[in-house]
Amino acid sequence: MHTFQPFKLTDIDLNPFTKFNNEWALISTGNKSKYNTMTVSWGGLGVFWHKQVAMIFIRESRYTKEFLDSGDLFSISFLDEEYRDALKLCGAKSGRDVDKFAEAGLTPCFRHNIPYPDEANLVLLCNKLIAVPLTEDLIPKKAMDKFYADKDMHTMYLAEIIESAAR
Ligand SMILES: Cc1cc2nc3c(=O)[nH]c(=O)nc-3n(C[C@H](O)[C@H](O)[C@H](O)COP(=O)(O)O)c2cc1C
Repeated sequence: MHTFQPFKLTDIDLNPFTKFNNEWALISTGNKSKYNTMTVSWGGLGVFWHKQVAMIFIRESRYTKEFLDSGDLFSISFLDEEYRDALKLCGAKSGRDVDKFAEAGLTPCFRHNIPYPDEANLVLLCNKLIAVPLTEDLIPKKAMDKFYADKDMHTMYLAEIIESAAR
Protein backbone atom coordinates (compact mmCIF):
# COMPACT_ATOMS: atom_id res chain seq x y z
CA MET A 1 0.00 0.00 0.00
CA HIS A 2 2.87 2.33 1.05
CA THR A 3 0.94 5.57 0.81
CA PHE A 4 -2.71 5.47 1.80
CA GLN A 5 -4.40 7.04 -1.22
CA PRO A 6 -8.13 7.38 -0.41
CA PHE A 7 -10.58 6.71 -3.24
CA LYS A 8 -14.33 6.36 -3.67
CA LEU A 9 -15.65 2.79 -3.48
CA THR A 10 -18.20 3.71 -6.14
CA ASP A 11 -15.31 4.24 -8.56
CA ILE A 12 -14.32 0.57 -8.69
CA ASP A 13 -15.96 -2.71 -9.68
CA LEU A 14 -15.93 -5.15 -6.82
CA ASN A 15 -17.66 -8.47 -6.28
CA PRO A 16 -18.27 -8.87 -2.54
CA PHE A 17 -19.00 -12.60 -2.90
CA THR A 18 -15.66 -13.53 -4.41
CA LYS A 19 -13.88 -10.90 -2.32
CA PHE A 20 -14.84 -12.53 0.97
CA ASN A 21 -15.43 -16.15 0.07
CA ASN A 22 -12.49 -16.72 -2.29
CA GLU A 23 -9.89 -14.11 -1.43
CA TRP A 24 -10.62 -13.94 2.32
CA ALA A 25 -9.91 -10.78 4.30
CA LEU A 26 -8.03 -9.61 7.37
CA ILE A 27 -9.86 -7.84 10.17
CA SER A 28 -7.28 -5.68 11.92
CA THR A 29 -8.17 -4.21 15.28
CA GLY A 30 -6.62 -2.12 18.04
CA ASN A 31 -4.23 0.80 17.71
CA LYS A 32 -0.51 1.59 17.51
CA SER A 33 0.17 0.37 21.03
CA LYS A 34 -1.80 -2.91 20.84
CA TYR A 35 -3.15 -4.48 17.70
CA ASN A 36 -4.20 -7.80 16.19
CA THR A 37 -5.41 -9.24 12.90
CA MET A 38 -7.56 -12.26 11.99
CA THR A 39 -8.78 -13.91 8.80
CA VAL A 40 -12.45 -13.97 7.77
CA SER A 41 -14.25 -15.36 4.75
CA TRP A 42 -17.78 -14.48 5.77
CA GLY A 43 -18.88 -10.89 5.42
CA GLY A 44 -20.56 -8.43 3.17
CA LEU A 45 -20.70 -4.94 1.75
CA GLY A 46 -23.83 -2.89 1.27
CA VAL A 47 -25.85 0.15 2.20
CA PHE A 48 -27.61 1.01 5.48
CA TRP A 49 -28.76 4.32 7.01
CA HIS A 50 -27.65 5.93 3.68
CA LYS A 51 -24.11 4.83 4.49
CA GLN A 52 -21.73 2.46 2.77
CA VAL A 53 -21.36 -0.38 5.22
CA ALA A 54 -19.48 -3.60 5.78
CA MET A 55 -20.64 -6.51 7.89
CA ILE A 56 -18.54 -9.17 9.52
CA PHE A 57 -19.38 -12.14 11.74
CA ILE A 58 -17.04 -12.82 14.64
CA ARG A 59 -17.33 -15.73 17.04
CA GLU A 60 -17.34 -15.26 20.80
CA SER A 61 -14.02 -17.07 21.25
CA ARG A 62 -11.95 -14.73 19.05
CA TYR A 63 -9.43 -12.37 20.64
CA THR A 64 -10.50 -9.96 17.88
CA LYS A 65 -13.94 -9.75 19.49
CA GLU A 66 -12.45 -8.13 22.61
CA PHE A 67 -11.03 -5.33 20.43
CA LEU A 68 -14.26 -4.93 18.44
CA ASP A 69 -16.29 -4.65 21.63
CA SER A 70 -14.00 -2.16 23.37
CA GLY A 71 -13.33 0.13 20.38
CA ASP A 72 -15.19 1.30 17.29
CA LEU A 73 -12.54 1.40 14.58
CA PHE A 74 -11.09 -1.49 12.58
CA SER A 75 -9.99 -2.30 9.05
CA ILE A 76 -10.92 -4.93 6.47
CA SER A 77 -8.03 -5.70 4.11
CA PHE A 78 -7.72 -7.84 1.00
CA LEU A 79 -4.39 -9.23 -0.17
CA ASP A 80 -2.98 -10.84 -3.31
CA GLU A 81 -2.84 -14.62 -3.67
CA GLU A 82 0.85 -14.66 -2.70
CA TYR A 83 -0.22 -13.89 0.88
CA ARG A 84 -2.49 -16.95 1.18
CA ASP A 85 -0.15 -18.57 3.74
CA ALA A 86 -0.15 -15.37 5.80
CA LEU A 87 -3.95 -15.40 5.80
CA LYS A 88 -3.97 -19.07 6.78
CA LEU A 89 -1.72 -18.29 9.73
CA CYS A 90 -3.89 -15.35 10.81
CA GLY A 91 -6.89 -17.68 10.64
CA ALA A 92 -5.27 -20.44 12.67
CA LYS A 93 -3.36 -18.71 15.50
CA SER A 94 -4.72 -16.32 18.09
CA GLY A 95 -3.33 -12.89 18.85
CA ARG A 96 -3.58 -13.95 22.48
CA ASP A 97 -0.56 -16.19 21.83
CA VAL A 98 1.46 -14.57 19.05
CA ASP A 99 2.09 -11.31 17.22
CA LYS A 100 0.41 -12.39 14.00
CA PHE A 101 1.61 -9.47 11.89
CA ALA A 102 5.20 -10.45 12.73
CA GLU A 103 4.68 -14.21 12.33
CA ALA A 104 2.85 -13.81 9.03
CA GLY A 105 5.45 -11.40 7.68
CA LEU A 106 2.94 -8.56 7.41
CA THR A 107 3.86 -4.92 8.02
CA PRO A 108 1.56 -3.08 10.40
CA CYS A 109 0.61 0.39 9.16
CA PHE A 110 -1.80 2.84 10.73
CA ARG A 111 -4.31 5.33 9.38
CA HIS A 112 -6.32 7.33 11.94
CA ASN A 113 -4.59 4.94 14.39
CA ILE A 114 -6.37 1.97 12.74
CA PRO A 115 -4.05 -0.93 11.91
CA TYR A 116 -3.89 -2.51 8.45
CA PRO A 117 -1.24 -4.55 6.61
CA ASP A 118 0.91 -2.55 4.22
CA GLU A 119 0.81 -5.56 1.86
CA ALA A 120 -2.96 -5.14 1.27
CA ASN A 121 -4.29 -4.34 -2.19
CA LEU A 122 -7.55 -2.95 -0.79
CA VAL A 123 -8.20 -1.51 2.67
CA LEU A 124 -11.59 -0.49 4.07
CA LEU A 125 -11.45 1.57 7.26
CA CYS A 126 -14.54 0.90 9.33
CA ASN A 127 -16.40 2.56 12.17
CA LYS A 128 -18.69 0.21 14.08
CA LEU A 129 -22.38 1.19 13.94
CA ILE A 130 -24.00 -1.75 15.70
CA ALA A 131 -23.02 -5.12 17.14
CA VAL A 132 -25.73 -7.76 17.02
CA PRO A 133 -25.14 -10.96 18.99
CA LEU A 134 -26.68 -13.85 17.03
CA THR A 135 -28.08 -15.68 20.01
CA GLU A 136 -29.39 -19.23 19.94
CA ASP A 137 -33.05 -18.11 19.96
CA LEU A 138 -32.49 -16.31 16.63
CA ILE A 139 -30.89 -19.26 14.83
CA PRO A 140 -32.88 -22.02 13.06
CA LYS A 141 -32.19 -25.42 14.62
CA LYS A 142 -30.64 -26.82 11.43
CA ALA A 143 -28.12 -23.98 11.31
CA MET A 144 -27.55 -24.31 15.05
CA ASP A 145 -26.62 -27.97 14.60
CA LYS A 146 -24.48 -27.29 11.56
CA PHE A 147 -22.55 -24.22 12.62
CA TYR A 148 -22.83 -23.91 16.39
CA ALA A 149 -22.45 -27.39 17.84
CA ASP A 150 -19.95 -25.90 20.30
CA LYS A 151 -22.20 -22.85 21.01
CA ASP A 152 -19.43 -20.51 19.86
CA MET A 153 -21.92 -17.95 18.56
CA HIS A 154 -21.25 -15.15 16.08
CA THR A 155 -21.78 -11.46 16.66
CA MET A 156 -22.61 -9.47 13.54
CA TYR A 157 -20.79 -6.16 13.35
CA LEU A 158 -22.21 -3.61 10.97
CA ALA A 159 -19.80 -0.76 10.32
CA GLU A 160 -19.65 2.35 8.20
CA ILE A 161 -16.80 2.36 5.69
CA ILE A 162 -15.24 5.72 6.52
CA GLU A 163 -12.34 5.58 4.07
CA SER A 164 -10.89 3.17 1.54
CA ALA A 165 -7.59 2.82 -0.29
CA ALA A 166 -6.44 0.52 -3.05
CA ARG A 167 -3.16 -0.31 -4.69
C1 LIG B 1 -10.47 -18.86 5.69
C2 LIG B 1 -10.86 -18.55 7.11
C3 LIG B 1 -12.01 -17.83 7.34
C4 LIG B 1 -12.43 -17.52 8.64
N1 LIG B 1 -13.56 -16.77 8.82
C5 LIG B 1 -13.94 -16.45 10.08
C6 LIG B 1 -15.09 -15.62 10.28
O1 LIG B 1 -15.75 -15.14 9.34
N2 LIG B 1 -15.45 -15.38 11.57
C7 LIG B 1 -14.77 -15.88 12.65
O2 LIG B 1 -15.15 -15.63 13.80
N3 LIG B 1 -13.65 -16.64 12.47
C8 LIG B 1 -13.21 -16.92 11.22
N4 LIG B 1 -12.08 -17.66 11.04
C9 LIG B 1 -11.30 -18.13 12.20
C10 LIG B 1 -10.39 -17.06 12.81
O3 LIG B 1 -9.64 -16.40 11.82
C11 LIG B 1 -9.41 -17.75 13.81
O4 LIG B 1 -10.15 -18.35 14.84
C12 LIG B 1 -8.37 -16.81 14.37
O5 LIG B 1 -7.36 -17.59 14.93
C13 LIG B 1 -8.90 -15.85 15.43
O6 LIG B 1 -7.85 -15.01 15.83
P1 LIG B 1 -7.87 -14.12 17.14
O7 LIG B 1 -8.11 -15.03 18.33
O8 LIG B 1 -6.49 -13.48 17.17
O9 LIG B 1 -8.95 -13.10 16.98
C14 LIG B 1 -11.64 -17.97 9.74
C15 LIG B 1 -10.47 -18.70 9.51
C16 LIG B 1 -10.07 -18.98 8.20
C17 LIG B 1 -8.79 -19.75 7.96
